[in-house]
Amino acid sequence: MEPVTGKPALLLTQLLIIGLLIVIVRFAYVITLAGESCTLGDFCFFSSEVRSASVGEAAPERYASKDWINSVRFYSSVFQDLIAGGFLSRAAKSLCLETPTGRDVLALREIGVTDATGISKRALPSLVKAGDARQIPFANGTFDFVFAGDGALERSPRPAEFVTEIARTLKPEGFAVFHVKANDTYSFNSFVDLFNFCCNVVKIKDVIGFDSSMSCVRELVVKKERYVIGSDSNSNSNGKCSVPEYKKTLVRNAEALIEEEPLKPWITLKRNVKNIRYLSSMVNISFKDRYVYVDVGARSYGSSIGSWFRKQYPKQNKTFHVYAIEADKTFHQEYGLKKGVTLLPYAAWVRNESLAFEINHGPREKVQGKGRGMGRIQPLESSSDFHGGEVERIAGFDFAEWLKNSFSKNDFVVMKMDVEGTEFDLIPRLFETGAICLVDEIFLECHYNRWQRCCPGQRSPKYQKTYDQCLQLFTSLRQSGVLVHQWF
Ligand SMILES: *[C@@H]1O[C@H](CO)[C@@H](O)[C@H](O)[C@H]1NC(C)=O
Ligand SMILES: *[C@@H]1O[C@H](CO)[C@@H](O)[C@H](O)[C@H]1NC(C)=O
Ligand SMILES: *[C@@H]1O[C@H](CO)[C@@H](O)[C@H](O)[C@H]1NC(C)=O
Ligand SMILES: *[C@@H]1O[C@H](CO)[C@@H](O)[C@H](O)[C@H]1NC(C)=O
Ligand SMILES: *[C@@H]1O[C@H](CO)[C@@H](O)[C@H](O)[C@H]1NC(C)=O
Repeated sequence: MEPVTGKPALLLTQLLIIGLLIVIVRFAYVITLAGESCTLGDFCFFSSEVRSASVGEAAPERYASKDWINSVRFYSSVFQDLIAGGFLSRAAKSLCLETPTGRDVLALREIGVTDATGISKRALPSLVKAGDARQIPFANGTFDFVFAGDGALERSPRPAEFVTEIARTLKPEGFAVFHVKANDTYSFNSFVDLFNFCCNVVKIKDVIGFDSSMSCVRELVVKKERYVIGSDSNSNSNGKCSVPEYKKTLVRNAEALIEEEPLKPWITLKRNVKNIRYLSSMVNISFKDRYVYVDVGARSYGSSIGSWFRKQYPKQNKTFHVYAIEADKTFHQEYGLKKGVTLLPYAAWVRNESLAFEINHGPREKVQGKGRGMGRIQPLESSSDFHGGEVERIAGFDFAEWLKNSFSKNDFVVMKMDVEGTEFDLIPRLFETGAICLVDEIFLECHYNRWQRCCPGQRSPKYQKTYDQCLQLFTSLRQSGVLVHQWF
């Protein structure tokens, strides 16, 4: 009995074991290739083909994750649409920028754009070469198609260099496509301005990304039409510049101006700082070249740069370079030690000339913590108006000209101006020369015959202008589309 039943049972067991082994091996094979998340047949097929087709030997697990598969699918459909739109062809020599995983490169190859490669900080064999998007390791005019997905341009610390490199490596009439997340009109216009020297925007559309961080992505297609480095539409030095409509919209969203003259300006104006709606809290400032803070009448480092700008101005994680303009020698020394700060030891003025600078030791309205008052400036010939304090000779420079020589429309320029009444000379000059259009946001202290804290019922004798004249200055700035805030 035993041998009779034993043999078939053994055979059955052996068969079962072999069957089980086959299942295990298959299972292990599938798992290794496509990962735990692999449930649908086409996913498994897709990703195993993907692996053998393009990735090569050392494929880490991420090629099997759901995220990876979804993103490759997303980019495939993006590129297929671009082919349908005539912006990409299967024969196009193509480059993807800032693509550590190469998923967009892979998607291009999957849909038949075989001459596709990527660059990223670290190389990924067969998909991505090591390279910096701001120094693309390819010759001029190499590519028909360049793609910068996943907000790569917005993340770049110097988007203008990024764009210049794209334009350089594109063939004439080539297309570059960007996926950006910022969607406000300010950032959109900043983006378009980056391309003025080379390209036209030919298409904009919204696409739905492959995960929640990309739920709303804007796709922009630009075409290389020219390549004229240094052509800045701003450099028409005959003056007038028109402030675009989108800036006027921002002004409408800003905090209201204080219409009534405050009885206690030292309180009211200081409190108003809390109401300020900063530009960088309303819009995305990513598409700018350089980020600059110009402090006109900077005085000591701590008075507004250290205590306010560095700490409180919302910078969207950008590194700002600070220009401190201060004529008073007493404050100069400390600036030598500050990183990222350039001191201009002159007075901001409407032309290059020597000025008389009043050093005020007067008892009125002492500046907190500093025994030294703020100085007014005047042209030498009229300096006899100063009485009381010491008078020093200082160099004044043409501030508007300096702005125009130093910055372009692609820079993000924030300015604080506290110049003891000289604002009534400087602001009109900024308009006259067109330099005003280079400034994105101004914090302006307007000096008038304010009510004094020391002496109730008495106005400051130091300034002749009235609150109404100040209000007019603010109003006209805002009407012209300049985002100005009342500073104290
Ligand atoms: C490539 O273009 C850049 C920028 O216009 C230019 O400076 C450079 O000379 C060009 N290189 C070659 C090899 O033509
Ligand atoms: C831009 O996107 C944000 C969310 O990212 C959304 O709240 C806002 O409404 C969008 N604005 C426009 C103009 O589409
Ligand atoms: C601006 O865009 C960048 C890149 O998409 C993003 O990281 C940043 O959070 C955005 N900032 C604001 C204030 O929306
Ligand atoms: C800000 O920049 C630093 C490095 O420059 C980076 O580590 C950090 O993640 C950034 N934060 C945001 C919110 O982008
Ligand atoms: C004013 O001085 C600056 C700096 O020295 C100089 O670059 C500029 O050309 C001068 N402007 C005029 C109009 O002389």
